[in-house]
Amino acid sequence: MSKLITKLFIYSRLTLVSIFLLVVPYYVESNEYLIEIPVGLIEPDIPLNNKLSKLKIELGKKIFFDKRLSSSSKFSCATCHDPTHGFAEKRSISINSKGELLERNSPSVLNTGYQATLSWDGRFKSLEEQALNPFTKNGDMGIEIEDAINKIDSFHDYDGLFETAFGKKVDTLGLAQSLASFQRSLISANSRFDDYLFNGNKKALTKSELDGYEIFIGKGSCIACHDIFHPSVNSLGGGIALFTDHRFHNLGVGYKNGKMTDTGRYWVTRKKEDWGAFKTPILRNVALTPPYMHDGSLESLFDVVEFYNKGGNPNPNIAPGIRPLLLNEIEINSLVSFLRALTDENLINSSISEQHRLISSINARNSLTE
Ligand code: HEC
Ligand code: HEC
Repeated sequence: MSKLITKLFIYSRLTLVSIFLLVVPYYVESNEYLIEIPVGLIEPDIPLNNKLSKLKIELGKKIFFDKRLSSSSKFSCATCHDPTHGFAEKRSISINSKGELLERNSPSVLNTGYQATLSWDGRFKSLEEQALNPFTKNGDMGIEIEDAINKIDSFHDYDGLFETAFGKKVDTLGLAQSLASFQRSLISANSRFDDYLFNGNKKALTKSELDGYEIFIGKGSCIACHDIFHPSVNSLGGGIALFTDHRFHNLGVGYKNGKMTDTGRYWVTRKKEDWGAFKTPILRNVALTPPYMHDGSLESLFDVVEFYNKGGNPNPNIAPGIRPLLLNEIEINSLVSFLRALTDENLINSSISEQHRLISSINARNSLTE
């Protein structure tokens, strides 16, 4: 943290100097965006060719909420990644801008800057790569990338924005980089569990939540995949509690009569062991984003825990370790209440319409020249 503050200080001095010399701070570096990292998380990897800047984030946010960039003019990224629903969606399976049923449930994009791969099958390696995917005729937005670029070029409210953020007019790379930057700013922690584990506030969790935590790291073996990288629970130490191992596992969701409705990771790698395997989701803010699983087939956290308690959905490729847990009703409820304690308190306490604004502003310190 002190490193960041020093950087901020030096940087603000430089900006003041440049203003003094009447040099308009034009370059992206001149509005470098410094993320304040909450306890429980570390700095996300930011590509060297797409450093964060306030201008890029604001531009990415504008695009993220812009319904004009869809075939029906009724869809934006935020339709399916809805800030009032933990940046995920209420539907079990997405419907695109053309009204066609897609294949999967829309995951939250909170903390997505920490993901090693994107989408349930991990087929994208960066947020930049993923950001272009919604722009196809049959994709989420129902228009091609060229159409999106032409539209942006023709809308006067975008005049000059790409030029100041990237030094050139709108193009495919700028579109991808601005959307990626906005999403990288959506860092969310500040849960009561963080207060308990990282601030050492023993009173932050109730008895039932603590019992649920014990089951999560013990009898339930949830931690085997939903990793908490903390010295007390992970011998490798470190400080990132993302509740994912960034890997792919088959729990049998969508398995019926010898078939998987969706082959998941197998579709990408064609490896037998990946058949029906999906990416372990981050569990932060999970209480805000029902329904659950890649196909949205489980309605509540209670249903999810019951699913694990029964041993998932047995099939030839089920992950080792997914087996009946023999939890009683009280233990099931404790585990559910623990999952609820992973919600960002700032999201709960702020008015819903304010949430997306709040997350990016509380997590960032901008140039002091504002
Ligand atoms: C019609 C609904 C819909 C719209 C509109 C939409 N998405 Fe998505 N998004 C999804 C679904 C469904 C997935 C999961 C896809 C998969 O796993 O194959 C997804 C996955 C993602 C992911 C991966 C998250 C992760 O944790 O792996 C990101 C990032 C993302 N979308 C960003 C965007 C952006 C940026 C836009 C706007 C340009 C957008 N989405 C528009 C439904 C939508
Ligand atoms: C073998 C690895 C593994 C273990 C062990 C495991 N999970 Fe999962 N978890 C996953 C994967 C993979 C998914 C997504 C599966 C899918 O959609 O097909 C998932 C999904 C979830 C979801 C839904 C999240 C969402 O956004 O849809 C919750 C909640 C969850 N797990 C909680 C738990 C709990 C509680 C336990 C312990 C009882 C547990 N998990 C044990 C790998 C695991």
